Amino acid sequence: MTGRVAIVTGAGRGIGAATVHQLADAGWSVLAVDRGTPDPDLPYELGSGTDLEAVVAEANRRASAAHAGAAGRSRTERGERAADRLSPAGHPVRAWFADVRDPNALVEAVAAAESEWGGVDAAFAVAGVIAGGVPLWDMPIEQERAVLDVCLGGVINLARAAVPALLRRPEPRSGRFLAVASAAATKGLPMLAVYCAAKAGVAGLVRSLGAELGGTGITANAVSPGSTDTALLTETARLYGLPTAKGFAMQQPIGRLLEPGEIASVLTFLAGAGADAVTGATVAVDGGLAL
Ligand SMILES: NC(=O)c1ccc[n+]([C@@H]2O[C@H](COP(=O)([O-])OP(=O)(O)OC[C@H]3O[C@@H](n4cnc5c(N)ncnc54)[C@H](O)[C@@H]3O)[C@@H](O)[C@H]2O)c1
Repeated sequence: MTGRVAIVTGAGRGIGAATVHQLADAGWSVLAVDRGTPDPDLPYELGSGTDLEAVVAEANRRASAAHAGAAGRSRTERGERAADRLSPAGHPVRAWFADVRDPNALVEAVAAAESEWGGVDAAFAVAGVIAGGVPLWDMPIEQERAVLDVCLGGVINLARAAVPALLRRPEPRSGRFLAVASAAATKGLPMLAVYCAAKAGVAGLVRSLGAELGGTGITANAVSPGSTDTALLTETARLYGLPTAKGFAMQQPIGRLLEPGEIASVLTFLAGAGADAVTGATVAVDGGLAL
C-alpha cells in the first residue's frame, strides 16, 4: 500500500483517528479531515482542532520512525519506497479542517490532496454525529438536520468530491470509496430513528455506488460497527440516561465494547488489494450486535 493516498473524514478522534494511524503505518499518505470545532446544532463536543493536530503529529511521528528504520538499512526496495511517500514537506499525514456538511469544503480537500500527492486512491467517510434520546416526533429539527447532514449528507458530499478524483487515476485502477455505517443501519433502535435512517441510507448509497462504479476498478463499501468505545458512544449513553457507555457491552455477543482500531483494521483491509472482489457491501464489524 506504500505510495497510496487517502482522505479520511472524522479524523480528529475515535474510529477516524485510528484509521489515519493504521493507514500511515501501512505506508499511505493521508489528508486527515475534521471539523475541529463544535457544531452549534448539537449538545455535545466534537473533536477539537487540537485533537486533529495531535492525531496527525502522532501519525507522522510513527511514519518518520519507520522511515528512519528503513533508511538506516542498506538500499532495500523497502527503504526507497518509504522515502518516496514523504511529501516535499516531509510529512505523509496532513491535517485539513473542513465541515462535511459543506460540499465545497470537501471539493477543496480533495483538490488539496491531489495537489500535495498527485492523486487520490481512497476516500474514507468516517465523520458522524449522534442525537436523539426522544421519540422521532419530539426531536429538535436542528438536531435532525445535523444527523442527516453529517451521517448521510457528509458521505454523499465526500463521494461527490472524491469519486471523480479516484476516476482521474490512470487505468488499471484500484480506487476505494469507504464509509462508516452502523449496526443502526439494520436494527430499529428506539429514540435514535434519525440516526438509524441516516445509517440505512449509507448502506443503500454504497450498494448503488458499487453498481455505478462497475468496470472502473473502483469499489464502494461500508462497515457497520457495533458499540465502540468512543466519545460518540459516551454521548449515546447520555441520551439513554446511562451513567457510562460500559453497559452497552452486554448487548454484544462478544460481551465487550469494540476498540476503534478494530473497526479501522477492517476499513484498512477493504482499502487494500485483498478486497478487490468486494463492492457494494456493508460489512458488520459489530461483535455480533446485529445478530
Ligand atoms: N462509536 C460507536 O459505537 C459507533 C457505532 C457505529 C457507528 N459509528 C460511526 O463511526 C463513525 C465514527 O464515530 P466515532 O465513534 O469515532 O465518533 P467520535 O465522535 O469519536 O468521532 C467523530 C469525529 O467526526 C468529526 N465530525 C463530526 N461532525 C463533523 C463534520 N460536520 N465535519 C467534519 N468532521 C466532523 C468529529 O469532530 C469527530 O472527530 C461515525 O460515522 C459513527 O456514526 C460509531
